Amino acid sequence: MGKREPISDLDITRWEEYDDIITDSLWLLGKRDNSGMHSAEYWGNFVPQIPNQAMRRFTKPGDLVIDAFMGMGTTLLEAVRLGRYAIGVDINSWLVEQVKWRVEMEESKGNVQAIPIVGDSTQPETLEQVKSTMDSLRFSQAQMLILHPPYHDIIRFNDHPSDLSNAPTLDEFLDRFEQVVALYTPLLQEGRFLVLVIGDKYAQREWVPLGFMTMERVKRQGYILKSLCVKDIQENRGKRGQHHLWRYRALKHDFYII
Ligand SMILES: C[S@@+](CC[C@H](N)C(=O)[O-])C[C@H]1O[C@@H](n2cnc3c(N)ncnc32)[C@H](O)[C@@H]1O
Repeated sequence: MGKREPISDLDITRWEEYDDIITDSLWLLGKRDNSGMHSAEYWGNFVPQIPNQAMRRFTKPGDLVIDAFMGMGTTLLEAVRLGRYAIGVDINSWLVEQVKWRVEMEESKGNVQAIPIVGDSTQPETLEQVKSTMDSLRFSQAQMLILHPPYHDIIRFNDHPSDLSNAPTLDEFLDRFEQVVALYTPLLQEGRFLVLVIGDKYAQREWVPLGFMTMERVKRQGYILKSLCVKDIQENRGKRGQHHLWRYRALKHDFYII
């Protein structure tokens, strides 16, 4: 049996030193990392700790990470900080300029690049754009895919009909999401990780487990599930009275808040 090539630069013989690498499935994060060029202003961006943890565990410096729903570029900023290359795609064109200057201003480790692209990730033309960007960076494959799609229609990102948050039905949303997984999968190196980040929604008196539903679509595309993590940010709990509002809703409508 051959040796498995390491997918990160963590040295397992020094495992006791990696205090800040999370190995539990419940992620209790004190607060959002707002350092450097990160901005919490964009509605629906994820906390930088998510791509940071994923990249440190499952990629090496010099690897390439692709984010098909880039948003404000949290993944791209974390990638350059950690010395990984990155390509981000978003249907919202104004984000590209935003992400470009943020990446330029961010302190990067090594001589890596992070390139934002405008495109509809459900479309083969976008994939061609991603491939030619990979060529320009001299990569034939990526070492990680990160997908943080809209949570169906709970936040509308754009009027563009192809924006996943405008999918008319839940089934249509899931079909389009799966289309993205199917398109990007051939770019991923064998044995590497796809990181899916999504929240559930609660609508018309019913809990809609978008996390499980999208996860099943990813599995249908040939992936195996390695972990399921739930995060909680303590600082959000007091935010703008939201905690009380959700507690009220939960008690009134008989559900639990994740
Ligand atoms: C939840 S946000 C991602 C936020 C990102 N992780 C960040 O930290 O900023 C989802 C993003 O998907 C984009 N989007 C929606 N439909 C898309 C599509 N068909 N192709 C590419 N991007 C899309 C939206 O414009 C939005 O910026």
